[in-house]
Amino acid sequence: MPLSTITMTQKNPDQYLVYGNPIEQSRSPDIHHIFATKSQQTINYQKQFVDLDGFSTAVSYFISQGGKGANVTAPFKEEALRLSDVLTDRASLAGAVNTLTFKNGKIYGDNTDGEGLVQDLLMNGVTLKQSRILILGAGGAVRGVLLPILAQSPKSITIANRTVSKAQDLCKHFDDKRLNACSFNETSESAFDLIINATSASLSGDLPPIPESIITNTIVCYDMVYGKNETPFLQWAKAQGANKIIDGLGMLVGQAAVSFSVWRNVTPDVQPVIDFLRIAIKEG
Ligand code: ATR
Repeated sequence: MPLSTITMTQKNPDQYLVYGNPIEQSRSPDIHHIFATKSQQTINYQKQFVDLDGFSTAVSYFISQGGKGANVTAPFKEEALRLSDVLTDRASLAGAVNTLTFKNGKIYGDNTDGEGLVQDLLMNGVTLKQSRILILGAGGAVRGVLLPILAQSPKSITIANRTVSKAQDLCKHFDDKRLNACSFNETSESAFDLIINATSASLSGDLPPIPESIITNTIVCYDMVYGKNETPFLQWAKAQGANKIIDGLGMLVGQAAVSFSVWRNVTPDVQPVIDFLRIAIKEG
């Protein structure tokens, strides 16, 4: 190891990164630096753009420089899974890794998305135990969160998707009798306590075509997406009389908090970060 490297790793605070392509939009450095300040931890957390074929090289280099851990965002979560020597169950079932830890010469892969969602739902007073949950969408976002939701002992989870076969495949993959799959239309045949929109429809200003009749005055509607304004799904749910609507900002901060606790063994307070980001997003 060159002398300059030894000096850097001894003098500098513990180093973390988030990898992505694109990455400019990432709020992770702000989030982790606030966590660190509030919990009296000293860390340095940066974002790094990586070429599509450069992920494993970037990780190896960072490890060689003494990096302690990294978050991983699109499109590298599956590659991060393949690169990991040791996986948690939630990462393995999710088929994706968003949190890497480098220690003892090994790469540990975890996925904190589902736990971040669960913690945000619980923090918002949503009951998951024995609840009847409808999830809209059957892509990577859903696969990433199913295990932690199942661990909260819901009564049932219905996965509705435009392409029903993908929802059926997810049910097979997780092999849990509380899971079932259907089309958007078929959701009118059941009653739900919580709807989670995990389609990417909100990103393009679209609304998953679900029947109005499933929105009751006791239902909670959650959108994994967040933005300056309420998402189309949350606007629609509110107009149909939903009891409560929640966007995905708390999930973003929640998954970061779980990563932080995996690395630092400290559970950070999420509320100051949610408040900070809410204002930052509104200001644009
Ligand atoms: P992600 O990683 O965000 O889950 P993904 O794996 O591409 O991304 O999955 C996107 C999900 O949003 C899918 O469930 C997709 O439905 P299909 O499987 O039928 O493609 C869903 N989706 C995207 N745009 C949608 C729209 N306009 N209406 C309804 N569902 C939509």
